Amino acid sequence: MKRKILVVFGTRPEAIKMCPLVQELRSRDEFETVVCLTGQHREMLQQVIDVFQISVEHSLSVMKARQTLFDVTTNILTAIRPVLEAEKPDLVLVHGDTTTTFATALAAFYLRIPVGHVEAGLRTYDIYSPFPEEFNRQTVSIVTQMYFAPTPLARDNLLHEGRDPNRIFVTGNTAIDALKTTVRDDYVHPHLQWAQDSRLILITAHRRENLGEPMHQMFRAIRRILDENADTKAIYPIHMNPTVRSVAEQEFAGCDRIRIIDPLQVVDFHNFLARAYLVLTDSGGIQEEAPSLGKPVLVMRDTTERPEGVAAGTLKLVGTKEETIYRACEMLLHDKKAYEAMHIASNPYGDGTASKQIVNIITAHFNDSSHVSTKEE
Ligand code: UD1
Ligand code: UDP
Repeated sequence: MKRKILVVFGTRPEAIKMCPLVQELRSRDEFETVVCLTGQHREMLQQVIDVFQISVEHSLSVMKARQTLFDVTTNILTAIRPVLEAEKPDLVLVHGDTTTTFATALAAFYLRIPVGHVEAGLRTYDIYSPFPEEFNRQTVSIVTQMYFAPTPLARDNLLHEGRDPNRIFVTGNTAIDALKTTVRDDYVHPHLQWAQDSRLILITAHRRENLGEPMHQMFRAIRRILDENADTKAIYPIHMNPTVRSVAEQEFAGCDRIRIIDPLQVVDFHNFLARAYLVLTDSGGIQEEAPSLGKPVLVMRDTTERPEGVAAGTLKLVGTKEETIYRACEMLLHDKKAYEAMHIASNPYGDGTASKQIVNIITAHFNDSSHVSTKEE
């Protein structure tokens, strides 16, 4: 009998990290794999689906412009219920820490359907940072039956919270599975040609807690760097969030050394990352990808749930204050030793086989008659 696995995701980063897993599941005969997109994101999600070309059985299309956390949570919770009731999966797989993840896990819990959590165990232990992601991932852990932790540190977090060691599996991060297939030496792009005579600063920013004054300060710091360093250029594939876009338009007005462009397809973004001199971001996923490529990352946040990259030397937390970001950036541009110390390739997130490992573990789980399930069987 085939086991039915329902894979649910709704934002760009979840899609990038779940599509390799969907492909792996669909390559195995023992599973019927059903994909449900919540549509928390629209264009940015579709971009990834187009690249991986996976077929989708359910599309909930919940996104609206300037959606609040109330909108996203309640709309997904209501819309996912009939999908879960109709599909009756043996396991629901969710990823990471978005509101899609939280609302889906909650709905599965209400219906007593087992949850597998991919990228489990990341923590800052500051419930407001990142907001609301730390809350989301902690609460998802309460209802999870299978924890797929990317690193030993993530496993340790779960163990310290009293989770059953037999249900925690260290697999690496599926982000690296995707990265292994995208970066090419012969990659060319008009934007990279525009920047080829300069040191390229790659920028992304979107965190909810940074919207408003922190984001103004982040962008002002970058503007100063670009204005004062004639050998730098920046490319900023900007998030679709209209609030982010209006702050960027304001702070970078008239600056000809930055190109603010629409979100890049993941293949393009990975290759831009591979060509960048340094990265300025508040993103989570980029903190996993950049160490693999040895790209120094200044993380414009006060906390990180990815201390592995900081320990490896590639990431530095610089907060969101203009002066601190400006100084850290200046140092990397003018102090060769400081730059070299961060320009080290390291890969704390596995060898690109996370999806295979996760699917093998799920297979073993279903083959083991002693598996624990909350589902009425
Ligand atoms: C969400 C996740 C965050 C994740 C991020 C990845 C939550 C609460 N936040 O944040 O954890 O890091 O995705 O990017 O789950 N928009 C579009 N088109 C799109 C995507 C977004 O127009 O394809 C605009 C809409 O106006 C939307 C806004 O961006 O209302 C914000 O999207 P939302 O998913 O609420 O928050 P993110 O900041 O993207
Ligand atoms: N990314 C992308 N196009 C872009 C910017 C980022 O494909 O223009 C990818 C990036 O490689 C990483 C992921 O999107 O895999 C990070 O997503 P995001 O920053 O939106 O979310 P977070 O990781 O912070 O949750």
